[in-house]
Amino acid sequence: TAHELHDGFGRGITYLRIAVTDKCNFRCVYCMPEEGVPPRAHGELLSAEEIARFVRLVAPGGISRVRLTGGEPLVSHRIVPLVRELRSIPGIEDISLTTNGALLPRLAPELKDAGLDRVNISLDTLDPEQFSAITRLGRLEQTLGGIDAALRWGFEPVKVNCVVVRRLHQDVCGLARLSVGRPVHVRFIEYMPIGDERTGSTRAHDALDTSGPHCPGGIDVNAWDVSDTVPSLELRERISKEALGLGLGALEPVDEGATPSGAGPARYWRFPGAAGTVGFITAMSNHFCSCCNRMRLTADGAIRPCLFSDAEYSVRDALRAGDDERVLAVYRDAIAHKPQEHEVIAGTERFMSQIGG
Ligand code: GTP
Ligand code: 5AD
Ligand code: SF4
Repeated sequence: TAHELHDGFGRGITYLRIAVTDKCNFRCVYCMPEEGVPPRAHGELLSAEEIARFVRLVAPGGISRVRLTGGEPLVSHRIVPLVRELRSIPGIEDISLTTNGALLPRLAPELKDAGLDRVNISLDTLDPEQFSAITRLGRLEQTLGGIDAALRWGFEPVKVNCVVVRRLHQDVCGLARLSVGRPVHVRFIEYMPIGDERTGSTRAHDALDTSGPHCPGGIDVNAWDVSDTVPSLELRERISKEALGLGLGALEPVDEGATPSGAGPARYWRFPGAAGTVGFITAMSNHFCSCCNRMRLTADGAIRPCLFSDAEYSVRDALRAGDDERVLAVYRDAIAHKPQEHEVIAGTERFMSQIGG
């Protein structure tokens, strides 16, 4: 659009990811520590009103898509009014939400009514015991119930996010198979080193008993290791091979025009004749920095130009002071400082749940 803001490398910024809370009703081992994120003083986090105010201010600069993440966005008591408010902002065409799905059966009708367009649901395994081991507090039926609710209430396209960690030996073919009978888009994400020991955050396996039946091998693990990230190419070949054995056919690329709508970096494939697709997010093996279209807003009101860079630009005080000019100046400054690409990654200071994925 005419007013779209561009960063220093000519990338148009059209997509805003908002962490509405850093809290969650699950505790996925790759995302947050067992005890949850450190408690915040009242007032440290942005209110729904402040978030909406921010979006209203930046929308004229070209933001047309907003994703609500967390933590778990559905544990925020103000999520429904927030969606409703965002829906009323001119220029916002797509409002989506990334969730673990547990609260969707309860909230789907209200979210639909408020104007939510679509949801992406995190599901790393179809094995109930492994699901509980990974999410620590979750049960498989909760997330499966969320997927059902998303389909029933028409939050299309419904996408499923699976973070693949080599040592967890997930049944990826079983997950990919979810795309066959129903219009579900199953995306496999390369495990990223977000958060690290320096700040006491947890990587996937710190908390997992890898000697159990769900994580065979009995490896003594303590930190993210590059070998835990399964490159998408390898994964796709593995899935195709297994699928052939099951009579599903090999994965074939989906034409550009037939990919599920979205603003993210996933590349899509499908089993012959399947209702949904299988996507791959090559966060590590092939970064998509050159076409990155996004900015992030953390739960405590900082703009974060890159998932992998700890540089942040706080707008909280300016928002609270009602200083719109200042908010916009900080926003423009953050865009101007968006790095061209991320460095070789050595972890970040924040947990994934605080950044919003
Ligand atoms: P749509 O394609 O619009 O549905 O959304 P999305 O795939 O961008 O959103 P989602 O929240 O489902 O994110 C899926 C995965 O992509 C998560 O693991 C994110 O952390 C990852 N991801 C999203 N944006 C970026 C990014 O800018 N860089 C990297 N490395 N990973 C990202
Ligand atoms: N690497 C890759 N993806 C991650 N997610 C959370 N932590 C990581 C990580 N370390 C995923 C969640 C969710 C999405 C927003 O990010 O599973 O689907
Ligand atoms: Fe919660 Fe999602 Fe993090 Fe799991 S990955 S702890 S469901 S925010």
